[in-house]
Amino acid sequence: MRVTVGVSGGIAAYKAAELVRALQRQGAEVHVVMTEAAQRFVQPLTFAALTGHKVITSLWEDAGAGDENGIEHIAEAQWADVLAVAPATANILAKFAHGIADDFLSTLYLATKAPLIVAPAMNVNMWNHAATQANVDILRQRGVHIVEPGTGELACGMVGEGRMAEPEAIAATLLAVLGRSHDLAGEVVLVTAGGTREALDPVRFIGNRSSGKMGYALAEAARSRGARVIMVSAPVSLHAPAQCEMVRVTTAEEMRRAVLERMPQATLVIKAAAVADYRPVAVSAQKLKRTGPMTLELTATDDILAEVVRRRRPGQLIVGFAAETENRMENGRAKLLAKGADAIVVNDVGGEGVGIDADTNAATFLTQATAVELPQMPKRELADRILDEILALRRPRPVVVELDEQPEPRPRGTDAARDSELSESVALGSRRRQLIVE
Ligand SMILES: Cc1cc2nc3c(=O)[nH]c(=O)nc-3n(C[C@H](O)[C@H](O)[C@H](O)COP(=O)(O)O)c2cc1C
Repeated sequence: MRVTVGVSGGIAAYKAAELVRALQRQGAEVHVVMTEAAQRFVQPLTFAALTGHKVITSLWEDAGAGDENGIEHIAEAQWADVLAVAPATANILAKFAHGIADDFLSTLYLATKAPLIVAPAMNVNMWNHAATQANVDILRQRGVHIVEPGTGELACGMVGEGRMAEPEAIAATLLAVLGRSHDLAGEVVLVTAGGTREALDPVRFIGNRSSGKMGYALAEAARSRGARVIMVSAPVSLHAPAQCEMVRVTTAEEMRRAVLERMPQATLVIKAAAVADYRPVAVSAQKLKRTGPMTLELTATDDILAEVVRRRRPGQLIVGFAAETENRMENGRAKLLAKGADAIVVNDVGGEGVGIDADTNAATFLTQATAVELPQMPKRELADRILDEILALRRPRPVVVELDEQPEPRPRGTDAARDSELSESVALGSRRRQLIVE
């Protein structure tokens, strides 16, 4: 997903930085184009640092020097999958509406075939002015997506319509425009993430190398697809995903309690955390000193996934993760059968660049009936693929019904009802019929 964010000259220009971050969290590669006026509010350096790309600030800058052909606006126009202008000033809306191309952003708009999303932000009188409203109407009729401004206290001190929509709302519109539907709307997804820690003494613990990246990516993906997300997280050094209910825990036992307490609300439980299998029998109240060899006595922790499966209610989907270093499929299948989850995502944590702590991952989505290979890809992308597979579990599987005899002729008037139930009917000879019921 390649997004060009256009920033024009309004007070809300600083919020474009939040939009860039929100889009990046959704896996987008972002370029930023700033008008001259926008640069009076925010330095291009802010966006260059966030995106890792040079910010385009002029039609003329660098033209012909260093670029392949100097026609950067055409290259940018072809690069972008979508153009989002936030904030959109009254001025840029007018230029877009009337085809004026006197700077990079307005020229880019004419040159690109990518869909355009604008998030207007301005003083309430400017917004309500007939000229602005007429320009917005022209753009709307042309298929431009307008993320309507909200009502509230404006930077100019007035109260009314004109506040730029929240960056998350703009990002959500953009995703919807690009065709990612809200297919998890109505679902409550409980995700666990990170590696639990079991204390040995006040400063030491037994832990693992889990970064939490996979669980956080799943939470973000589920949220952006419309789910309400409850995140139970062991310690990680990641920013909390936006708009998720965060529950922070440290030990396996804390995670167990947090999950069991919240699981009745969930329609889907995804257990991506790396939970300790053992904890020390005794925790020293004082910092342990080096006194020669030491033997630690450990005791097994409770199996949270098994308990979640035992307490599930009808319709709740339970998906676990298995981190394996050998015999991946055998171990994954054994875990699936032993725990009774709907699916297990089997990770190879021994490979280069995949699994624990890496930014990419490869996995197998294992159910009793299928094994779907998900090749190495960024964890955020993998999160969406895993959610696609989980959603497929909700779709009813075709049931094949074999009938020995020719069915009785149906009474008149019921054919339509039956035909809607029986999506396909295959006659197999005169005395045997196979009905595939969706
Ligand atoms: C302090 C200040 C704040 C402004 N805020 C806005 C704003 O929020 N929305 C807007 O449409 N124009 C605003 N303007 C006016 C625009 O900056 C001006 O119309 C400029 O020409 C817009 O250029 P651009 O569309 O190329 O970025 C503001 C001007 C100043 C001086």
